[in-house]
Amino acid sequence: MKIISVCNHKGGSGKTTCSIHLAASLSLAGHRTLAIDLDPQGFMSRMVGISEPHEKQSVLTLFGHQADWQTQYVAHLTEFDFIPSTTALTTALKKLTKPTDVLWLKEVLSANTDYEFIVLDTSSSVTVYTLNALVASHYVVIPVIPEYLPVIGGEQTYQTCTLVKSKLNPELANPYFLLTQVDGRKNIHERYKQYLRSTYKNQVLNGFIRTNAALSEETLQGKTLFSAEPNSKGAIDFANVTDELLTRMSSTESPAPVIEQTLDGTWKRLVEL
Ligand SMILES: Nc1ncnc2c1ncn2[C@@H]1O[C@H](COP(=O)(O)OP(=O)(O)O)[C@@H](O)[C@H]1O
Ligand SMILES: [Mg+2]
Repeated sequence: MKIISVCNHKGGSGKTTCSIHLAASLSLAGHRTLAIDLDPQGFMSRMVGISEPHEKQSVLTLFGHQADWQTQYVAHLTEFDFIPSTTALTTALKKLTKPTDVLWLKEVLSANTDYEFIVLDTSSSVTVYTLNALVASHYVVIPVIPEYLPVIGGEQTYQTCTLVKSKLNPELANPYFLLTQVDGRKNIHERYKQYLRSTYKNQVLNGFIRTNAALSEETLQGKTLFSAEPNSKGAIDFANVTDELLTRMSSTESPAPVIEQTLDGTWKRLVEL
């Protein structure tokens, strides 16, 4: 069983869209897949049509060490299994203050699970839930729009993952950047794409997600693109990226790239781009 977190400290970078379509395409590729919404705002839950579940039917139960969670709390959607979020996650934050509270998900998910993949959608803010996701994960995908602030958010996320890997989860692979909402007509997108590739080398996935109006909530209406518009650019891009991820996850990891300088606070570098 492999756990994949979708994480970026920058909001609106495409995490939830990526989590849904990654879970759906892993499932369509024949892998038993569970997706979990760890964002208290519950946008993933809303996008799949579960707006505000009772907190006992939500992800909150996993933070109470429920041994029987697989039979009790999992919603069986058409394309993948799912555990929704609840706004009660926000109030529960006050109780999750011990250093060991970052270990809940790892313990719960590693016991008795027959899923091949678990995809974790995280919030943009770095809370104990995001740390739980990173501590439990084997892989991280950082969706990033190739523009200035999103790239900085992506780089901060990469650094968080490096820290979690060194202090809490040595099993975590080096994160993968996934370029999203890429617009081939924008010169700036090409420049930030090149910047990420030259800095993070092989950690930037070759496949990327083009900007696609079919990915808006209005078009999807609770479905994934694979059922709403299977021939759209978005469906094709997510299917290709999932194939690439499956290949990369089954091969030996390349060594971590040496990061000499990041964009953060470096206007000079921006001007040089
Ligand atoms: N490839 C894309 N093309 C066009 N719109 C997109 C694409 N990916 C995401 N979006 C839209 O961008 C917005 C933010 O995406 P979302 O996945 O919710 O980001 P996050 O979870 O990181 O906050 C949503 O309205 C979503 O429909
Ligand atoms: Mg989101």
